[in-house]
Amino acid sequence: MKKLLELISEEMKNAFEAAGYERELGKVTISNRPDLCEYQCNGAMAGAKQYKKAPIMIANDVAAKLADSSVFEKAEAAAPGFLNLKLKNEFVGHYVKEMRVAKKYGVEEAENPLKIVIDYGGPNVAKPLHVGHLRSAIIGESVKRIARFMGHNVIGDIHLGDWGQPMGLIMNELKIRKPELVYFDESYTGDYPTEPPFTISELEEIYPFASKRSKEDEEYKANAMACTFKLQSGVRGYRALWNHIIAVSVTDLKKNYEKLNVDFDLWNGESSVHDLIPGMVDEMKKGGYAYISDGALVVDVKEETDTKEIPPCMILKSDGAALYNTTDLATILMRMEQEKPDELVYLTDKRQELYFEQVFRCARKTKLVKPETKLVHIGFGTMNGKDGKPFKTREGGVMRLENLIQEINDEMLRKITDNREVDENEAKQTAEIVALSALKYGDLSNQASKDYIFDIDRFTSFEGDTGPYILYTIVRIKSILAKYTENGQDVEAVLSKIKAPVNESEKQLMLELASYNASMQAAYDELAPHKICAYIYGLANAFNHFYHETKILTEEDEEQKAGWIALLALTRDVLETSIDLLGFSAPERM
Ligand code: ARG
Repeated sequence: MKKLLELISEEMKNAFEAAGYERELGKVTISNRPDLCEYQCNGAMAGAKQYKKAPIMIANDVAAKLADSSVFEKAEAAAPGFLNLKLKNEFVGHYVKEMRVAKKYGVEEAENPLKIVIDYGGPNVAKPLHVGHLRSAIIGESVKRIARFMGHNVIGDIHLGDWGQPMGLIMNELKIRKPELVYFDESYTGDYPTEPPFTISELEEIYPFASKRSKEDEEYKANAMACTFKLQSGVRGYRALWNHIIAVSVTDLKKNYEKLNVDFDLWNGESSVHDLIPGMVDEMKKGGYAYISDGALVVDVKEETDTKEIPPCMILKSDGAALYNTTDLATILMRMEQEKPDELVYLTDKRQELYFEQVFRCARKTKLVKPETKLVHIGFGTMNGKDGKPFKTREGGVMRLENLIQEINDEMLRKITDNREVDENEAKQTAEIVALSALKYGDLSNQASKDYIFDIDRFTSFEGDTGPYILYTIVRIKSILAKYTENGQDVEAVLSKIKAPVNESEKQLMLELASYNASMQAAYDELAPHKICAYIYGLANAFNHFYHETKILTEEDEEQKAGWIALLALTRDVLETSIDLLGFSAPERM
């Protein structure tokens, strides 16, 4: 569907033309004086010089042409030359009625769908998920859903940290604790056991232990590095053991991401590109891009227009070892070969901004990507505690993600069961659904690049700009619709009965609904989930205002009642589709 603002601008442009002025002057914007009008056009002012006329004269000419407009109830010239506009109720009602039957409620899919790979999540195996991984998962999941909704072909890849030094540290420690394990017997040629020799909790205990010890004990560290080397050079037993580490970790990760309603199409990791590195490095050398500096292999990525120093991109360390950069570059190579994407999007902490600038420049310079391939880094801010410092547990440690989720679930359950008789099981389920909205909305409603404060009391509140407020609004609509059904009437049968608004609050609700396609487009164009939050908050407010002013179920005129029911159902559908793009859902009751 054409956007409402486009339709209005069309009408205004026709009027400029009919009055003898240039069409393009008829651009309409949302009013910045909502007390005076809904929309405005400043074209008369822009045209004054060109036509050597006072702006108010132009505005009057145009307004005269709009006297019988089917779009504008009011098109009034106001000093010094504004056109103040109010839409006809019939026009607004008609637009919203059309939304009901349009595909995706009027959101138009991309004409040329792009192939987009989104790299998000980025957990490290054998390490518990912590709050540092929360934002990448939440924002990445939403960006993926938004791009998909707009008709693009999107692939989410978790990019597991599964290959470097931590793997050697774990294996070396296992070797000390359980030297009898067959994996360490390099003369063994039989099959390896299918059951892993450890549980996820053992793994999670081993890694920090080994990491700490390696910092204090040189020999221990050297042994761990030797294990990493054996793994990476393909020693059978080490590979088999590593496969167990991955399998046990991934099972646990899947469980945790499921709780967050986050999922990935690809579970590739740093290890997936190991074999591509030597070839890639050769090409970089052959192309004359990579050279040795202080023993290390580097590619210069600075550009003349730089205002700050951009250091070279290091490809191999002086001992020949690959780095974080190397895997990211080889992953670009792999993605370009396998997925042939038009665009690559990465979600990490904004402290990696310079890092991605280097990697992107290096990928362009060494022709890993095509000149037209879009490379985007969405760098997000930190989730802080109430003290304004990065969020910690009460004891000052790093908060595990599952504990954070548990905390917010508990708080939500407390709020839901407070002073009420509720079925325990249902309350628990509802609390989980609402808590997820609190957590995700609390994060997504901020512009991603900004830091924000994790405030459990505010996030779980049923009032204000929060997830639970949005869900509460949806549930309120559902309960009115359910009562309509209980009274023996059929919601499905009246869905298309949307009528022209009969009062101001109904018109405002319709205008909010009508800006749905423009808001979703903007959220996609800027890869900005916070735009969806802002949209649904405005829509929920407009609905609640309308609801407080209108007696819906007791309305005697059945046609009018049916019209309102249809409007409510559309509001519910738009809200539910929107929250799905944010990665959460609404319960039936709460
Ligand atoms: N595993 C990394 C970490 O925990 C994040 C990976 C981010 N993605 C990427 N392509 N570099 O810090």
